Amino acid sequence: MTSGSLLVDAMTAIARDVDAVFDALLPVPADPRARLVEAMRYAAIGGGKRLRPLLLCATSAMYGVDRDAALRAGAAVEAIHVYSLIHDDLPCMDNDDLRHGKPTVHLAFDEATAVLAGDALHDFAFEVLADPATSADPFVQVELVRTLGRASGCSGMAGGQMMDLVAEQSEFDLPTVTRLQQLKTGALLGAAVELGAILGRVPHEGRTHLRGYARDIGLAFQIVDDLIDHEGDATVAGKAVGKDAKAGKETFVSLLGPDRAREQARLLVEQAIAHLAPHGKEADLLRAVARYIVERDH
Ligand code: IPE
Ligand code: IPE
Ligand code: MG
Ligand code: MG
Ligand code: MG
Repeated sequence: MTSGSLLVDAMTAIARDVDAVFDALLPVPADPRARLVEAMRYAAIGGGKRLRPLLLCATSAMYGVDRDAALRAGAAVEAIHVYSLIHDDLPCMDNDDLRHGKPTVHLAFDEATAVLAGDALHDFAFEVLADPATSADPFVQVELVRTLGRASGCSGMAGGQMMDLVAEQSEFDLPTVTRLQQLKTGALLGAAVELGAILGRVPHEGRTHLRGYARDIGLAFQIVDDLIDHEGDATVAGKAVGKDAKAGKETFVSLLGPDRAREQARLLVEQAIAHLAPHGKEADLLRAVARYIVERDH
């Protein structure tokens, strides 16, 4: 199989399978909470590249983990991602009206429902990870929950989002922007790989190279997100572009210029792939995902 078709097949399968997990785990209740679950489903089903579940499943598959368990953990990480997007798009944050090619949750529903849908997706993630259907081993459950919690909170995504808002009023230098991006985006991508390794019962010391891979693709991913905002097309991206410059935000693109930023992303991807040297063909999907991260246009 070529690495191109390996990736296309894996992306098609993960999109279908993650949708199926959300569909099964988010039934709409026949009472006034229906509106909340409709909003959660609206945001969670049928959109996005599903990169985080893909990374999780690709990693866990290298260690022989059952795909259904990996998909549940993948849906948990994706739920945190989707919640972060719902809140990121709110008027009090980026005030965006387009996400995954459709109106943002606060426009399709209302702001209060969007806040609650984000909250409930956040809680859904931890409930799924602590469920014996994901892992029957309480030690694995706790490690899954702790790792995702750390990557989502102030040492991860939420902390990075705070720095991102402060960036509009400050002149951050390159090391500070790098730290911001590692928290805002890198932490959750890293958690996806880490959760795959936890399910695969890879001991801490056996995960160092996977952490190196995840750190490098995380940074490359955010550089490309900034490039898409700088020079991308809203229809292709499925979200508004040109917002970082308008908000006066320092990004890799504003600090390095687009050419050096792209070069940096390419170097990071090569470095990420080099971390996978201890693996043979079983890591080909992780290699293909790394390449996709710099080649993508959405
Ligand atoms: C976009 O992430 C938001 C950031 C974390 C920069 P993705 O590009 O992974 O979002 P999807 O694929 O549209 O869900
Ligand atoms: C959002 O970053 C990152 C998170 C939601 C954690 P951005 O604000 O750059 O994402 P987009 O460009 O709106 O997708
Ligand atoms: Mg934002
Ligand atoms: Mg945004
Ligand atoms: Mg962006």
